[in-house]
Amino acid sequence: MDRIVVSGGTALNGQIPISGAKNACLTLMPAALLSEEPLTLTNVPRLSDISTMTELLESLGCEVASLQGGRVLAIGTENITNHTADYDIVRKMRASILVLGPMLARDGHAVVSLPGGCAIGARPVDIHLSGFEALGAELDLRDGYIHAKAPNGLVGTTYEMPFASVGATENLLMAATLAKGTTVLKNVAREPEIVDLAECLRKMGAQIDGEGTSTLTIQGVDRLGAAAHQVVTDRIELGTYMLAPVITGGSVELLGGRRSLVSAFSDKLEAAGAVIEETANSLIVSRKGEQISAVDVVTEIHPGFPTDLQAQMMALLTLSNGTSVLEEKIFENRFMHAPELIRMGADIEVHGGTAKVHGVKSLKGAPVMATDLRASISLILAGMAAEGETVVSRVYHLDRGYEHVVRKLSACGAKIERISG
Ligand code: UD1
Repeated sequence: MDRIVVSGGTALNGQIPISGAKNACLTLMPAALLSEEPLTLTNVPRLSDISTMTELLESLGCEVASLQGGRVLAIGTENITNHTADYDIVRKMRASILVLGPMLARDGHAVVSLPGGCAIGARPVDIHLSGFEALGAELDLRDGYIHAKAPNGLVGTTYEMPFASVGATENLLMAATLAKGTTVLKNVAREPEIVDLAECLRKMGAQIDGEGTSTLTIQGVDRLGAAAHQVVTDRIELGTYMLAPVITGGSVELLGGRRSLVSAFSDKLEAAGAVIEETANSLIVSRKGEQISAVDVVTEIHPGFPTDLQAQMMALLTLSNGTSVLEEKIFENRFMHAPELIRMGADIEVHGGTAKVHGVKSLKGAPVMATDLRASISLILAGMAAEGETVVSRVYHLDRGYEHVVRKLSACGAKIERISG
């Protein structure tokens, strides 16, 4: 298995281009299933999660052409020959559940494996399922699969989500575009990826109001058509690399970055000691002084501080001048990076969903293990600031969500390399 070796102590200076958003792409690709005409996506990141979604769509009978080295995907969905999303693919990636809404809405039936647990918590799909039932679907859970039917089509309704789940909002929004009549979805998620999905669906002919607010109103249409859409900038990759010059010192320009994508995160980063300057097409981030200040962080649904940036922020706060309290409100088991950071000399106490991070003067390089996608990059950030060498194993987690991480960081002076085998 590949490892990443980081030698710490070098300030980062330079430019990092930010890729298209993995999480937006993982809902835009299944959205193609709503139409029999092609969907072309540009600014697609080259990641293993995108390959997994491609594999899933191909298993359903779609034709996915990868152009310009994977930057562009042309998805043809004229013939859906199989309506079952198999366990072997779904278990690899929870976002596979997002094919359910589109297939059910277009063809009146779909079978999707239940995703099961994952490293960062139980992550059930009950909100997706109760939303589909509200839209008139008949659901049957057997043999580990969700069997969904709507022989006469889905019917618009008013449905209030018990929690603003990102995936459930996406699945129900997609399904409602082809339901009969009007659907009002209340207490929905407001993430930029949902706004991006709504914009793409509108190009395909959907009638949607309210994206970016907590209520979506969808007027169902009979069919959707072809469209081309550019994937929004990856705000989690952006936030991750904004941390790099703050933890190491130096100044990095994040190309394509916009503060509006990472507002709550930027406020906390500034409180910790970052200087953030916004230009027409980038953010320039540097550290204000020598000290990193302790700050408290609570992860929340958008527009709050994103759970997907909590591990990386923790890496920074291990080196602060005081005690920071990090509260994880979205996932019940998302501090697996803490014991690895402790191996590097961090002082962290975890009690349930709260981590107390007592700042230390320095971190020391160590062999560490990536446990999930965001945990892996937090260890690389810590490694760049640590004394000596850090070896991160299980980097396949990283390949799910960070494109060319070694190339992007070494272009700014980081001493980082990937060792195969
Ligand atoms: C998406 C993102 C993920 C991010 C998360 C929260 C993608 C591909 N992934 O995941 O990177 O960390 O949003 O910002 O976009 N829940 C239920 N029942 C449900 C659905 C969710 O209880 O039916 C719970 C989950 O267990 C979890 C919380 O709600 O504790 C958040 O889940 P959700 O917002 O659905 O996240 P995902 O769409 O899975």
